[in-house]
Amino acid sequence: MPHQLVVVANRLPIDVAVAEDQTVTWNRSPGGLVTALRPVTEASDAAWVGWGGAADLEMEPMEVDGTRLVPVSLSTEEVVSYYEGFSNDTLWPLYHDVIAPPTFHRSWWDDYQTVNERFAHAAAAEALPGATVWVHDYQLQLVPAMLRQMRPDLKIGFFLHIPFPALEIFAQLPWRTQVLDGLLGADLLGFQRVGGAQNFLQTVRKYTAATTRGPVVEVPATDGSRRRAIARAFPISIDSAAFNARARTPQVRERAAQLRTELGTPNVMLLGVDRLDYTKGIRHRLQAYGELLDEERLSPERTVLVQVASPSRENVDAYVQLRAEVELTVGRINGSHGTVGHTPVQYLHQSFDADEMAALYLAADVMLVTALRDGMNLVAKEFVAAHFDDGGALVLSEFAGAADELTSALLVNPHDIDGLKNAIVTAAEMDGRQRRRRMRKLRQRVLANDVQNWSTKFLNALTEVRRTA
Ligand code: G6P
Repeated sequence: MPHQLVVVANRLPIDVAVAEDQTVTWNRSPGGLVTALRPVTEASDAAWVGWGGAADLEMEPMEVDGTRLVPVSLSTEEVVSYYEGFSNDTLWPLYHDVIAPPTFHRSWWDDYQTVNERFAHAAAAEALPGATVWVHDYQLQLVPAMLRQMRPDLKIGFFLHIPFPALEIFAQLPWRTQVLDGLLGADLLGFQRVGGAQNFLQTVRKYTAATTRGPVVEVPATDGSRRRAIARAFPISIDSAAFNARARTPQVRERAAQLRTELGTPNVMLLGVDRLDYTKGIRHRLQAYGELLDEERLSPERTVLVQVASPSRENVDAYVQLRAEVELTVGRINGSHGTVGHTPVQYLHQSFDADEMAALYLAADVMLVTALRDGMNLVAKEFVAAHFDDGGALVLSEFAGAADELTSALLVNPHDIDGLKNAIVTAAEMDGRQRRRRMRKLRQRVLANDVQNWSTKFLNALTEVRRTA
């Protein structure tokens, strides 16, 4: 039965696992997008179109928490060309300021188009007449125009979770015009930062036949008519109240205290939490920390850095290389500064559940978010939401979208290693009053601008665009 709201994202909100005997099992996946959209999909008659996360999965649609999940199947070759290739070895590095060199392969582009079309068909089949379809992220940028072609009756929204790069960088993409035309099929385009929306509008002016006035794009159709699309910033957030409440539970507070004991009751506990990705600035962070220990500006015996680096995209070369470098550096720092009883970097190449994450945030004195480029960085917001005690200092890269809102953090340029070192020391030595003053301001922002707010604003703006079009 078709639906009033259809969410289209590369991943379904579940993790599917295939056992050796080919039995398929799944778990609810705790990712940011899922948490972001759950309140919307649960409150309305909604379907979610996405990939189950493993190759060659043929699964029937199923109902989870009142939402119909519609699996899109990817072949083994398409996982290589569309997911690992075009999405994560072409678009991902390009959109993150070419921190790693993007790879351009024509065959990957062919499969990107084919797979985008498959998602568009699946979405069209789930939507009632006049329904809202909300397409997410860089993996599916052609879906809006494909959907409009199939179903001009739909309200189509698109949200880009990662940065939209500057014109000179985007210009490298051999298929830049096709990608822009794909996006312009949407009625409303959402970006994390004002700068991203501006970059997009600039590239539209230069590389398409559309014209712009402020956030309004006039898109010409083949029949000579024109339609309007709007491109604006809608910074995403987290379920702040839920995170705050989780951190206050006795089991999380006890676990936080236990973690500090297990770490040898350090004077200073620093924390990094990232997918193991080259955009996150983990190498810069380790460089700064290693130098601070060398120079004894931080005590090697009384300081610990807990670095959670969850496994990600492990078949893509740049990620394999990054893992090797990070693990080598961690080994060097621990080799030089560790003692039998104390390890200055606790490196965890694992993922943890939400309670354990909340306990880590709460236990930490200083959170290090040193991304070289990041759409938003929800980890920074989670750290703030967890600190109901108003303790904890946040060192935050100005290249993360979160820096636009979290201006009471210690903002850093992670490329400036000396500046980063000074900020880490300032955060570690900050007195309780200062810390509380800054944290209270951060908490006001994060608790007021939560993810329900984000999705409501986006969906209301989408309805408005169609009403006034
Ligand atoms: C980023 C992207 C998401 C993506 C997530 C995890 O947050 O914006 O679209 O799902 O990373 O990456 P993965 O490749 O495992 O889906």
